[in-house]
Amino acid sequence: MSTPVFYFQPTKIHYLQQHRLMSLRHGGRLHPAKDERILPGCGMYTKSAELYDAIYSEKDYQAEARAINRLIWEHRRSTGNRLLDVACGTAKHLEYLSQHQYSVLGVDISRELLAVAHQRCPGVDFYVGDMVDFDMGFQVDALTCLFSAIGYVRTFERLQQAIGNMARHLKPGGVMIVEPWFSPDTWTPGTLHATVIDRPDLKITRMTISDMQERTSINVMHYLVGTPDGITYFTERHELGLFTHHEYMDAFRRANLDVIHDPDGLTGRGLYIGRNALE
Ligand SMILES: C[S@@+](CC[C@H](N)C(=O)[O-])C[C@H]1O[C@@H](n2cnc3c(N)ncnc32)[C@H](O)[C@@H]1O
Repeated sequence: MSTPVFYFQPTKIHYLQQHRLMSLRHGGRLHPAKDERILPGCGMYTKSAELYDAIYSEKDYQAEARAINRLIWEHRRSTGNRLLDVACGTAKHLEYLSQHQYSVLGVDISRELLAVAHQRCPGVDFYVGDMVDFDMGFQVDALTCLFSAIGYVRTFERLQQAIGNMARHLKPGGVMIVEPWFSPDTWTPGTLHATVIDRPDLKITRMTISDMQERTSINVMHYLVGTPDGITYFTERHELGLFTHHEYMDAFRRANLDVIHDPDGLTGRGLYIGRNALE
């Protein structure tokens, strides 16, 4: 059975489950958190969601959206302009992609990140769902899954399910662009990482020592966050699967997509570009 998906709009929430759509009037609030118990991994960004944009303020989402737009024009064969960003986070790619004439939508497992996304793009529809089994009930011309979010599926079986599920959401001639996480060969356990944000009203230090268990990368992020209201400390654990190039290619091919690998991609992590055949 596919995971229920909760869909937020300024004035109503639609509740999708296995092709069915129920519309619930909800006065502009996000749905109560009962979904968090049934979506595995949805708590990863619970404590840090409001810090996400500050932490990644150096990332050039505008340039990345330009590059994604070029790739879509190069590879899409369908004629529409509907674009779905899966694992959209706070919707920074969508904000810029919408400026390239796409009609954009976002899906993510984290309702906390989607609350930020909704503030950023109030006119855009956002859905809470797991990339492995969400079901929109319609198809799109372009689908993106960026900044290595795909790694959160953790296992090869779930990688295949996620790629297959995303591919099912493509129109004939549609294109899917996935930015991978590290492979077992390129991940280095024991590496110390630190991110420091130093603004007048917000100080953040985030540190982690990379770890690895079998084919899973593990980062326990230690956050020290200061605002004029006080200083807090918390941790978040992020587990991402380490898949080989062959496994990514295999997952795309099993989903019946014609796949191209760009080893550089947007940020040096590479890109997989899957093209759905025209019927
Ligand atoms: C590194 S962030 C990337 C967010 C956004 N794409 C960006 O570029 O800023 C990873 C994202 O994957 C989402 N995520 C993790 N597991 C997921 C799943 N199973 N289904 C959907 N989204 C998921 C997280 O909530 C988070 O928004």
